Amino acid sequence: MSAEEAAALVKNGDNVGFSGFTHAGSPKVLPGAIAKIAEAEHAIGNPFKINVFTGASTGDKLDGELTRANAIQFRAPYQTNNDMRKAINNGTICFCDLHLSTMAQDIRYGYYGKIDVAIIEACDVTEDGEIVPTCGVGISPTVVRLAKVVIVELNRWNPKEMRGMHDIAEPLDPPFRKEIPIYGVKDRVGSNCIKIDPSKIIVVETNVPNEGGKFAPVDEVTAKIGQNVADFFIKEMKEGRMPKSFLPVQSGVGNIANAVLAAMGDSKDIPDFEVYTEVIQDAVIGLMKSGRVKFASGCSLTVSNECIENIYKDLDFFKDKIILRPSEYSNNPEVVRRLGIIAINTAIEADIFGNINSTHVMGTKMMNGIGGSGDFTRSAYVSIFVTPSIAKDGKISSIVPMVSHEDHSEHSVKIIITEYGVADLRGKCPRERAKCIIDNCAHPDYRPLLHEYLNRIKEGNTPVDLYNTFAFHKAFLETGDMHNAKWIESDKK
Ligand code: COA
Repeated sequence: MSAEEAAALVKNGDNVGFSGFTHAGSPKVLPGAIAKIAEAEHAIGNPFKINVFTGASTGDKLDGELTRANAIQFRAPYQTNNDMRKAINNGTICFCDLHLSTMAQDIRYGYYGKIDVAIIEACDVTEDGEIVPTCGVGISPTVVRLAKVVIVELNRWNPKEMRGMHDIAEPLDPPFRKEIPIYGVKDRVGSNCIKIDPSKIIVVETNVPNEGGKFAPVDEVTAKIGQNVADFFIKEMKEGRMPKSFLPVQSGVGNIANAVLAAMGDSKDIPDFEVYTEVIQDAVIGLMKSGRVKFASGCSLTVSNECIENIYKDLDFFKDKIILRPSEYSNNPEVVRRLGIIAINTAIEADIFGNINSTHVMGTKMMNGIGGSGDFTRSAYVSIFVTPSIAKDGKISSIVPMVSHEDHSEHSVKIIITEYGVADLRGKCPRERAKCIIDNCAHPDYRPLLHEYLNRIKEGNTPVDLYNTFAFHKAFLETGDMHNAKWIESDKK
């Protein structure tokens, strides 16, 4: 079918499950064709909006084009698109921010109704219903199985020789769920393709490049954070808290995570290591080439176009060093706990007790979503959060008295690292944690204010001054600078 004919199968109000995980593997032609239908319907006064379910964020050709056509009613579980972010924050799109490992099972459990259509990018599809995904898997096995109609974007830009890189499986649901038999990063539990009844497949042929952007170059601050992470691991191994052979690493999304991995690769005292993660970014591929990363299991190859072209040119080298799995396997907390994953994720802000905000700027504005950070943090061998100590030219301190939104609690977070140092929270009570975070991680300009806050409360296990919990945020909203924080005195003192 043509993209236009296939898009016409999608109706107003449909639940549509898309392939991909980040821009990697997400459809690039059908969403635009649906957006055109929506615009035409809106022009004649008809409603046209769909509910979009994916593994994670997608490319601009999906989230961007559908948002700009005002064609999305509901979106889950994660996004990174500028236009969509605006639409979520102004209330146009209803966004459900979810742990990525649970998206597929939540759909199977029936929490969102039935999936009407699945739209999947593939590098190969056979007469007997075998679909080989491209560079992102996400929730594809589930939405393809459940959908009434499956539209496959057969994107010839991706070589069909990718077959063999994926490990496709779907667990049974409770009360029949069994253990996931992944005992090492390289273990495979499924097949190399998604297999469904061929009679519900419609194929649309395309040839469209990936939408991979570039990562920001490593700067002084991100390099220092990376160095502090590497030094922390070396100390852990030396002092016997981490095996000398090291453990598999999960590294979060974005520029900082990319820089941290690069620094780990440069450190001669960290042995060659394996990666069990959600998104495989450029730094991992570079380290694989140099032999520092031995193997990587993830849900997607979220890399720049230059990087994916190099992988495709050298598929023989990469195919036995990379596995791409569905998100409920790449991010599965059972597997994370068993393998002893070292989880490194990025915070927007951390408070002096170790609670983490990964998602909401000033407590209200959605940035991207929790993504897989919770899947890994809660179950990791050691869970680390990294962040530059300040944002927006120092007007914002990333270390605050209390986070303005909480994604990860002090009970799960073990280590916080900024360019100034490492706060090791293990075995510390809240007051000790607070001193440790302020003295090791906060920017020196903000340390006196944070100590002043801490010293205001003399009693209680967790020294929280409810009158002034958000004094830093209030100062930023009123004066544009957290340095201007002022204390309100309680009349009960
Ligand atoms: N207050 C306001 N803005 C802040 C801030 C704060 N405390 N801290 C950071 N920011 C802003 C930065 O200024 C930057 O803004 P800009 O885009 O206008 O320049 C933006 O947030 C991104 O920050 P950056 O320093 O470039 O970090 P990043 O690219 O590494 O992204 C997160 C950081 C937290 C947004 C990102 O890691 C994320 O979405 N995490 C949640 C999901 C996740 O962890 N997934 C991984 C699981 S495997």
